Amino acid sequence: MSEQQHRHKSGFETRAIHAGYEPDPTTGAVIPPIYATSTYKQDGVGGLRGGYEYSRSGNPTRTALEGALAALEEGERGFAFASGLAAEDTLVRSVLKPGDHVVFPNDAYGGTWRLFDKVQRVWGIDYTPAPVSDLEKVAAAIRPGTTKLVWVETPTNPLLNIGDIEALAALAHDAGALLVVDNTFASPYLQQPLALGADVVVHSTTKYVGGHSDVVGGALVVKDLEVAEQVGFHQNAMGAVPGPFDAFLTHRGLKTLAVRMDRHCDNAERVVEFLSAHPSVGEVIYPGLESHPGHEVASRQMKRYGGMVSFRVTGGEAQALAVCDRTEVFTLGESLGGVESLIEHPGRMTHASVAGTDLEVPADLVRLSVGIETAHDLVADLERALEG
Ligand SMILES: Cc1ncc(COP(=O)(O)O)c(C=O)c1O
Repeated sequence: MSEQQHRHKSGFETRAIHAGYEPDPTTGAVIPPIYATSTYKQDGVGGLRGGYEYSRSGNPTRTALEGALAALEEGERGFAFASGLAAEDTLVRSVLKPGDHVVFPNDAYGGTWRLFDKVQRVWGIDYTPAPVSDLEKVAAAIRPGTTKLVWVETPTNPLLNIGDIEALAALAHDAGALLVVDNTFASPYLQQPLALGADVVVHSTTKYVGGHSDVVGGALVVKDLEVAEQVGFHQNAMGAVPGPFDAFLTHRGLKTLAVRMDRHCDNAERVVEFLSAHPSVGEVIYPGLESHPGHEVASRQMKRYGGMVSFRVTGGEAQALAVCDRTEVFTLGESLGGVESLIEHPGRMTHASVAGTDLEVPADLVRLSVGIETAHDLVADLERALEG
């Protein structure tokens, strides 16, 4: 099947496994080899084989990953980076210039906030935080003529708020801005923002895309060729690319994304059911719950509701910290999206950098990345931790 057919005709799982790579013509290798090479022999000056001249500019192992990402997000082109933040930084410098303004989630991932607040602002990029779930507040935060990006996460990290991608795209485009969606929490299996009108998708591929907590990486997938050219230029000019070993691992993880995500969702639903009935849990935050304010929008734009679950305990910060200390199957740690379940206290861990700002998260909040272990063991572990 040709690359064209993979991209436009095949189902998600088929594209995840086949898109971006044809078995190697000389050996027939069915998996992209790890091209551990920095440079390439030229057949006479400028006589490049397949366009490869130097591995910052292009490497076949990375090319295969980038093709697969573009096919899964249904974008024009995919670009792989050394980390999610490297992808974000490259995007900002590709499409913004000093004096431009960004509307930004008021509960963004702390590292993304730090990039905008402590790094980009120094270089003249201003931002205004707004809740992604409130279209009127996003509209009010737009500075006509100056706002060039509306940046959203949906679901957000860690409060799992939902933004209506279609409506946000219309709002951004009316103002002459691009809509950027950080799709890390949903993954391309559960949500395809470009098909809903977004212009650029951002991923920390460290999370569900890689899926095995063994590699840090990032990606941008772009709908429009003009933006793609800018991003491609900056990817090479700034150089924050992944090496071939990292690209290989990320691509290997991506092939099983669909089956992993379905199990993440199954297990998250079991955990949510248990937590919702527990007397020490004040609130369970999960877009799959009908009580979640974003449930209706999530049902429209997501296939299922994902593996991330947050909850607030009735015993305040002390109890939240104790629960995090007591679990055994849920490992206490930052990050998310791997096969193993993780637990963390956002206020003291992933979101410590936003303490004291408008983006501060509640101290009694616990965040779970529900893995793909046996559901019963996950529920039993939380039961012990909450009762301990
Ligand atoms: C939603 C989201 N976006 C971006 C990032 C940054 O990605 P990375 O850690 O790969 O640089 C993270 C990391 O946790 C994240 O959760």
